[in-house]
Amino acid sequence: MGIAVVETPTKPFAGQKPGTSGLRKRVPEFQQLNYTENFVQAILDAGLGSKKKGAQLVVGGDGRFLSMEATNVIIKVSAANGLSRLIVGQNGFLSTPALSNLIRKGHEGRVVDGGIILTASHNPGGPKGDFGIKFNCENGGPAPDHVTDSIYQITTKIDKYLIAKDLECDFTQVGRYEYDIDGVGHFTVDVIDSVTAYVDLMKDIFDFPKIKSLLAGELTGRKFRVLLDSMHGATGPYISTILVDCLGADANDLLRTVPKPDFGGGHPDPNLTYAKTLVERLHTGEHDLGAAFDGDGDRNMILGKNGFFVCPSDSLAVIADNIDCIPYFRTRKVNGFARSMPTAGAVDLVAKAKGLQVYETPTGWKYFGNLMDAGRIAICGEESFGTGSDHIREKDGVWALLAWLQILAERKETVEEIVSKHWQKYGRNVFTRYDYENVDAAGANLLMTFLEAQLPAFVGRDFSANGVTYKVAVADNFQYTDPVDGSVATKQGLRIVFEDGSRLVFRLSGTGSAGATIRLYVDSYIPSNDSSRLLLPAHELLKPLVLIALDVCKMEQFTNRKAPTVIT
Ligand code: G1P
Ligand code: ZN
Repeated sequence: MGIAVVETPTKPFAGQKPGTSGLRKRVPEFQQLNYTENFVQAILDAGLGSKKKGAQLVVGGDGRFLSMEATNVIIKVSAANGLSRLIVGQNGFLSTPALSNLIRKGHEGRVVDGGIILTASHNPGGPKGDFGIKFNCENGGPAPDHVTDSIYQITTKIDKYLIAKDLECDFTQVGRYEYDIDGVGHFTVDVIDSVTAYVDLMKDIFDFPKIKSLLAGELTGRKFRVLLDSMHGATGPYISTILVDCLGADANDLLRTVPKPDFGGGHPDPNLTYAKTLVERLHTGEHDLGAAFDGDGDRNMILGKNGFFVCPSDSLAVIADNIDCIPYFRTRKVNGFARSMPTAGAVDLVAKAKGLQVYETPTGWKYFGNLMDAGRIAICGEESFGTGSDHIREKDGVWALLAWLQILAERKETVEEIVSKHWQKYGRNVFTRYDYENVDAAGANLLMTFLEAQLPAFVGRDFSANGVTYKVAVADNFQYTDPVDGSVATKQGLRIVFEDGSRLVFRLSGTGSAGATIRLYVDSYIPSNDSSRLLLPAHELLKPLVLIALDVCKMEQFTNRKAPTVIT
């Protein structure tokens, strides 16, 4: 006799609406009876549709608190719903980029229909932290809006889910586990090593022997030392294998490589605030490059010697400009690049110089998927420490590090030299972002409504601060029409664009789990011949624009905050 399917009555939970990147809530919310089961049932119904019976999915996540329990639920609900196979990372562990790769690779010659990622990315973990569930499609990328909308619709009406309650799978051990499900059929769980396939992919994309020579000092006559901070997130095992075992880096230069369910109590977001220790250690000048990665391994921050900060908008542009250094692109036709709207336009200038297309998409990686599938873009990125290429359909922190190392190995210059030369060639798109995290949601909404109402009247108006005046050219709420499928995304952020191209952008975060987070993005262009200002610190260059931004939106009045929680 097989394992019984239990049809379990349930009722909808409010708020199971996927945001910028999946459903993210506090752990106790996910721990409510039936909460996770409901959402998984909705994912299988909406995400797989008529392909559900017999489908194969990849499952894994960043190892945060609740991952094991959620993996178990996914296995049992999938079995009862007639999926034929799950490919599960050992211990339910897979970085987001590794999971995207496993979907795209297929499994034993068969197409994989998608994946479920258990992560809340850069949000803190632990029993009181955040958990998240995200559905990715057959192309390996985050589900587009129409799919997440139908997942949400199902969660608002759900009255039952199917579960094979008695199915036990020890996914701590690599191996094949097979089951007979009563009235449904055969079900297989393949528990796989979490690291191997991703490391093989990186070996195919990059010239490992060349990077190894760089680190060993064979290219320049002196060792090139890296200092890498995995922040107790998902990159640890991948970084250790690639950097130490394959590329010969010193294991002591790898920090916080053991994934922890609560990220060691830290905030696994690789920015100047939460990866401060890395920045400080780089100030000793012993290392040539520093990098940090987020909880699920898709974000990266790149730093040069003495903590020289590479703004993510610049990092994207530098990689795009040096694309020929990366073996993977030498054999492919590169048609264009893309960036999210709030990202500064440095990559646009590179595309123009190379005669390539550039696309400006809404915030969130899901909008790059169609462009990559259609072969329109090879490289894309976001100011939020996201960089990646069409090798998968997620941003990829380890890929970004290796891209930099490959460029450094080819150019034999320092990180700072490469970035400064880039500015001298193209001019500099100076950028800063202010995050007001966890502010009162009502105040945040009022701020946005108040500001949006004034936008039409701003056009043509002068704004001044610190003796500098800017005239508004465009003021709108960003809207995007996908050039591939014609779908339209509205209300993607309030923009005030000045006549000299400087911009202020205001958005509410779509990845938080409680309260609201206001993001203020400010950027401005310094031409390459403005040598007196080209190398000045970003905060100095952007000071007048920041003052104007805080004033026009009445930040302090609406949020009761005198300062942001994070400045990038
Ligand atoms: C944030 C970033 C966005 C990124 C997303 C997922 O979303 O701003 O660029 O794609 O996290 O990593 P937000 O919280 O702003 O909605
Ligand atoms: Zn992430």
